[in-house]
Amino acid sequence: MSRDDPDPTELATVTELAKRRGFYFQTAEAYGGVGGFFTYGPQGAALKRNVEDAWRDRFVTRAGHMEVSAPDVMPEPVFEASGHLDGFDDMIVECPDCDASHRADHLVEDDSEYEDAEALGLDRVADLLGDLDLTCPECGASLADEPVEEFNLMFETDIGPGSAQSGYLRPETAQGIFAEFPRLKQYAREQLPFGVAQIGAAYRNEIAPRRGLVRVRAFTQAELEHFVHPEKDDPPLDAVADVELPLYSATAQEGDGSVETKTVREAVDDGTIESPWIAYYLGVARDWYAAIGVDMDRFRYRQHLSGERAHYAADCWDAETEVDGDWIEVTGFAYRSDYDLANHAAHSEESFTVFEQYDEPKTVERASVDPDMATLGPEYGGAAGDIADALERLAERDPDAFDAETVAVDADGETYAVDAEVANFSVEAVTKAGEHVTPHVVEPSFGIGRLFYTVLAHSHREDEVDGEARTYLELPAELAPTFACVAPLVTDAPLVERAEAVREELRAAGFAVDYDDSGSIGRRYRRQDEVGTPVCVTIDHETVEQSDHDAATVTLRDRDTTAQARVPVPDLVEHLTALRAGTDFADLLDREGVHEV
Ligand code: ATP
Ligand code: GLY
Repeated sequence: MSRDDPDPTELATVTELAKRRGFYFQTAEAYGGVGGFFTYGPQGAALKRNVEDAWRDRFVTRAGHMEVSAPDVMPEPVFEASGHLDGFDDMIVECPDCDASHRADHLVEDDSEYEDAEALGLDRVADLLGDLDLTCPECGASLADEPVEEFNLMFETDIGPGSAQSGYLRPETAQGIFAEFPRLKQYAREQLPFGVAQIGAAYRNEIAPRRGLVRVRAFTQAELEHFVHPEKDDPPLDAVADVELPLYSATAQEGDGSVETKTVREAVDDGTIESPWIAYYLGVARDWYAAIGVDMDRFRYRQHLSGERAHYAADCWDAETEVDGDWIEVTGFAYRSDYDLANHAAHSEESFTVFEQYDEPKTVERASVDPDMATLGPEYGGAAGDIADALERLAERDPDAFDAETVAVDADGETYAVDAEVANFSVEAVTKAGEHVTPHVVEPSFGIGRLFYTVLAHSHREDEVDGEARTYLELPAELAPTFACVAPLVTDAPLVERAEAVREELRAAGFAVDYDDSGSIGRRYRRQDEVGTPVCVTIDHETVEQSDHDAATVTLRDRDTTAQARVPVPDLVEHLTALRAGTDFADLLDREGVHEV
């Protein structure tokens, strides 16, 4: 299928296959289902796990990063600090007739040329509902005069009995890393740069879940938070300098531009990508997407428009894949600067900096305060202590703030105007062994479900074998839910016995092996093709009749070409290991003892 001629039934095809063959299906269908929740079935759970493992291999193990696993529920102060409580909103409009809720920006996008209506802001989107004469997709009532409001996407819950402490299901796994930075930096021996990854569930109370796995309320993220020195750390750009990136820049989106292909080096040199760190990750990820089966003709990197960026992001690019004619964001690459760590520092008692030791001690000027508590106490009561601490931190961070008559200082979630004289600000010369640095954060944030859906859609093939139509999934071998299916040609006892022995041997060697002895061998091959099993191992009469039992041969059948070869049983594990590592079936035919059938 080409990009210009998208198959309009692609979503329907994938959904039907997913349900029938156990990739995914709506949760709790016995109770009528629930919007935005999906359960991965046996094939799907295996494919999802393999996508996660492939991600872990590339972004954690190979990169030498740490991995953590934090709880799904975090207490409210974490999300006060992160900004999600105030700023994690989508635009909602409700139908006056049927009460259905809709994403106002999505309604505008569906009916106009706007690709990111969110970037236009609340008022403009409300106007566009009228200008475009938009109606409720459920019942057709006019939405023209309906108010558009902010709707916070976090699921709230009570921690413990009663409502003693509010908590939220995390809307991103990232906060489970940032909130633990004071401890994590110790494990990294306070040496920048270092990366901490997490694969886990995230939850968003989406206003209008849609398109199967694309917009759901519970999904899996794979996120890497790479903590870097803001001035001193550069990415190893040479490693990806020549990787070609299809870039859809903000400038191109705002004008008449289109996707331009540039190497990582070119995009950094000409300023298309501002942050070399982001460019580095776009390069690494581009090769990874190709390796897991994303069709590179249906893939692009799109820069966020300025009004579209998340509250924490200084620059942001999305990896987008095309399915059924729609572009889907599968990964967000954000330069989060020191936004998260600085906010957690301001809202908590802990240090979210690393201590950078100088080569030689330095004599420097140090700003400090000695607040007059006899004045602060009566004036600010219980907040006085926190205000004094906040003044101390402010003096270190921004001594110029004390030049004015009053100093604005944030403590306990409020801003106080404190008389500068009461702060007793001074500067003295001190010898320092080093300094505290708040790291900046570079974040690639992958949505596993959207990638899973893309890989299913992009690997789906239809062809004809022996005059019969067949469908198969051309999944990369390392991703396939089942790697091999062992099948006795017929259910005669000697064949079954040998087939079961082969199955056990392959399972013991670590392969995901299915066993199928029902129906014609042709039907069994088709069943495996449909779920993407790369090879079938068939035990036939020849296998059991060969006089040298140990050197008996079986048939290996390749999913994509349907080519077949006979290989000796003792060499099976070696050959399958090679195939799983990416060797072509055709190359196997050159190996000793392997004969094309
Ligand atoms: P969108 O604009 O599509 O709502 P987003 O910009 O809010 O996505 P991010 O906040 O950047 O997404 O989240 C990081 C990744 O998590 C996304 O690239 C996506 O793959 C995944 N993701 C986010 N929201 C959902 C969702 N509701 N359902 C499935 N995956 C999601
Ligand atoms: N961590 C990026 C996001 O989920 O918004």
